[in-house]
Amino acid sequence: MKRFPDNFYWGGAIAANQVEGAWNQDGKGLSTSDVQPKGIFGGVIARKENVSSIKDVAIDFYHRYPEDIKLFAEMGFTCLRVSIAWARIFPDGDEQTPNEAGLAHYDRLFDELLSHGITPMVTLSHYEMPWNLVTRYHGWGNRLLIDLFVKYAETVFERYKDKVKLWLTFNEINMSLHAPLTGVGLPEGSSQSEIYQAIHHQLVASAVVVGKCHEIISDAKIGNMLLGGLLYPLTCSPDDVLKAMEENRGWLFFGDVQSRGCYPGYMLRFFRENMIELDITEQDREHLKTNTVDFISFSYYNSGCASTDDEIIEKSRGNILSMISNPLLPCSEWGWTIDATGMRILLNILWDRYQKPLFIVENGLGAKDTLKDDFTVDDDYRIAYLNNHLYQVYEAIEDGVDVMGYTSWGPIDLVSNSTAELGKRYGFIYVNRDDKGHGDLARYRKASFYWYRDVIRSNGETLVPKM
Ligand code: BG6
Repeated sequence: MKRFPDNFYWGGAIAANQVEGAWNQDGKGLSTSDVQPKGIFGGVIARKENVSSIKDVAIDFYHRYPEDIKLFAEMGFTCLRVSIAWARIFPDGDEQTPNEAGLAHYDRLFDELLSHGITPMVTLSHYEMPWNLVTRYHGWGNRLLIDLFVKYAETVFERYKDKVKLWLTFNEINMSLHAPLTGVGLPEGSSQSEIYQAIHHQLVASAVVVGKCHEIISDAKIGNMLLGGLLYPLTCSPDDVLKAMEENRGWLFFGDVQSRGCYPGYMLRFFRENMIELDITEQDREHLKTNTVDFISFSYYNSGCASTDDEIIEKSRGNILSMISNPLLPCSEWGWTIDATGMRILLNILWDRYQKPLFIVENGLGAKDTLKDDFTVDDDYRIAYLNNHLYQVYEAIEDGVDVMGYTSWGPIDLVSNSTAELGKRYGFIYVNRDDKGHGDLARYRKASFYWYRDVIRSNGETLVPKM
């Protein structure tokens, strides 16, 4: 019989800056997300000029969360991954005391989840930080950020210790290499040395808060979060195979440090050969070594290929991660390769490498949906994508991989991170708002809503090998 483990977490994942809106309410400070209205690759604007952003209201989850959580409960969610907006708790990031209104908001949110039997999983930092930390301190380039982040983390651990037992440190921590402003608060064009130094500070901060979390909430589990940027060699030439190995190490290295507690030899070689000299103190090494994560979480949307052919590489520039598309696989409307088997491969790679429980905290299909006159949406393409990926999760579990749970990305439509579109929809729940901000924000159940409800209800038994 095809079943997922008992106590497998089923649910969805959202991030504060992509759903909440209320960008300047209840004492919230300006964040890096607020100054990037066109998404993380769309540049920075000065909010003083009174330029608005689709994220200012987003899907108004800040006010509508009770209604939305009720819908999640109707689907049978046992887990919802959310993030806390750091700038709601410490508006400028460097205050002595936290903003009570911000803390009280998340109290209400967690209470609401718990009252529906939904376990909150909280990301401390999901693609936003107080903007003041960028302008005043040079972001994570400044070692002081470690202390400021630890203070923020301690504050929320203390406050929510009875309510939240699952935590994640930094969302897609490896993304800083591609989006330094969003990841580590450094301007585009920063040098490799600056970026890796900022990343080092973030890795140390991540380790320190793992330790703090264990101290403050003895029954909590805390994980890291990687963008699972799985790459295959484009051909079977050993050079391409080696290139794929190296490029995969480019993101796996974050997991190596967070899970194994030290920089791997291949990274030390990379730093040496690229004249990158990091300021790593003995105390940093100690923190990394002692405070490794309890589990590994990751996002997986698509795979790509690696090649040593310069012409092919050149053509792929401009893609989000400069991934080379796999000629054998189809793509989404946004050009993201669809590769369900990659889910099984990735789960096995991470399990073989770390031997720690894995949690799939993002996966899904961004697509254009049509709301019909009867307020339903036929999103069979989304059902097929999710079914096929979830079936591969089941296969990996059969392979012996320890998987804690699955939270699909954007269970309710939200603002896209890369392009700030609302028309790129991931949800089981349709939100009536378009890219221009038109619409009354009403929520409607899509066909996938009922499909996911049945998957959860049957603990995976309704999944089929391929749709
Ligand atoms: C991940 C992020 O990269 O992918 C999310 O953690 C993001 O914040 C998701 O929304 C999907 O990407 P996009 O660009 O389609 O929103």
